[in-house]
Amino acid sequence: MTFDAERARKDFPILSRTVHGKPLVFLDSAASAQKPQPVIDAISHFYATDYANIHRGVYELSLRATEEVEGARRKVARFIGADPHEIVLVRNATEAINLVAATYGREHVREGDEVLITHMEHHANIVPWQRLCEERGAALRVAPIDDRGQLILEAFEALLTPRTRIAAVTHVSNALGSVNPIDEIVRLAHARGIPVLVDGAQAVPHGRVDVRELDCDFYAFSGHKLFGPSGIGVLYGKAAQLAAMPPYMGGGEMILSVSFEKTIYKEPPYRFEAGTPDIAGAVGLGAAIDYLEAQDLDAVAAHERALLAYASEALTLVPGLRLIGTAEHKASAISFVMDGVHPHDIGTILDREGIALRTGHHCAQPVMQRFGIPATARASLALYNTRADVDALVSGLHEVREVFA
Ligand SMILES: Cc1ncc(COP(=O)(O)O)c(C=O)c1O
Repeated sequence: MTFDAERARKDFPILSRTVHGKPLVFLDSAASAQKPQPVIDAISHFYATDYANIHRGVYELSLRATEEVEGARRKVARFIGADPHEIVLVRNATEAINLVAATYGREHVREGDEVLITHMEHHANIVPWQRLCEERGAALRVAPIDDRGQLILEAFEALLTPRTRIAAVTHVSNALGSVNPIDEIVRLAHARGIPVLVDGAQAVPHGRVDVRELDCDFYAFSGHKLFGPSGIGVLYGKAAQLAAMPPYMGGGEMILSVSFEKTIYKEPPYRFEAGTPDIAGAVGLGAAIDYLEAQDLDAVAAHERALLAYASEALTLVPGLRLIGTAEHKASAISFVMDGVHPHDIGTILDREGIALRTGHHCAQPVMQRFGIPATARASLALYNTRADVDALVSGLHEVREVFA
């Protein structure tokens, strides 16, 4: 089955608006994806009919709201092949990673130990580990990438040592689009008894993810890149890992009992969910997953793969344009630079044409340093993008060329 992106576009009301008098061409879904009508409706319907705080009341609305949030947790679990008790609802991928660094990390990382990441990580999967290592007197090790932006697996393996306490690796690079061989990475790490956290922020919107198949210990992602609302994200943790971890934040809802002498904590996932969560955000995330599961996800992935190949080829033909990140396995993101044109100028000129794409370091400054550039322009694709979007981008880039000729 081929995926009908034109039909899918109709589900996303914002895609029919104009910007600067031109039809919107949205190519920045890696930063945040647009929202389909069912997600927008689910949130406003929830506020209009069922809203109350959760886990607190015995009254009808509170029970309904609780059931909606727990229903969303079950949907997330099913979507990635986990058990609902392994799903911690957090604000975003950043918080999910910080949670693991602050709990698992503080419990296990001691002076002289090592944490292994890769050179292609988003700052969200660098800074929490760096802070942990600084606090503990541990060393942050970085597995190198090659000139195409691919992880050098042998080097990664060589950096797994008896002092490595955890490896934290992105599934898909937001700056380069490279897809990492997570199953292989997990196999190598587990063979040495090292747990693996996967940053899945850029992977879940583009294909099936099954955490049991990957066998990773932790998997982090954000709702807003998955066509859901901002303010809600997910940490998956293997049940045994979560059960052995101390709380993250302290407060209401994460306790069984509190006295001034002693507090007894709840079991996971609630132990890690202090305070009132983003209740409507969870409902919206559940609706986003319903929306995705109603699509043929294999057909979506095939559509995006074909579009990525089409776009990569078309961009290469623009004079003076160089792709940054040409890994054999890529998803969604195409970064590029143009001779004699700063990426910000590319972004500004394209904006006048109604084309939204990202320029800058993409919260991956070490990637920019690796390629010796300050910034790139990045187009990123989602299920609602079409060849017409790519054609508009290419013609916009020719205009950029003319402006700077
Ligand atoms: C690979 C990757 N990891 C983590 C994040 C952080 O996501 P958030 O800002 O939603 O926490 C991003 C966001 O761009 C990302 O691309």
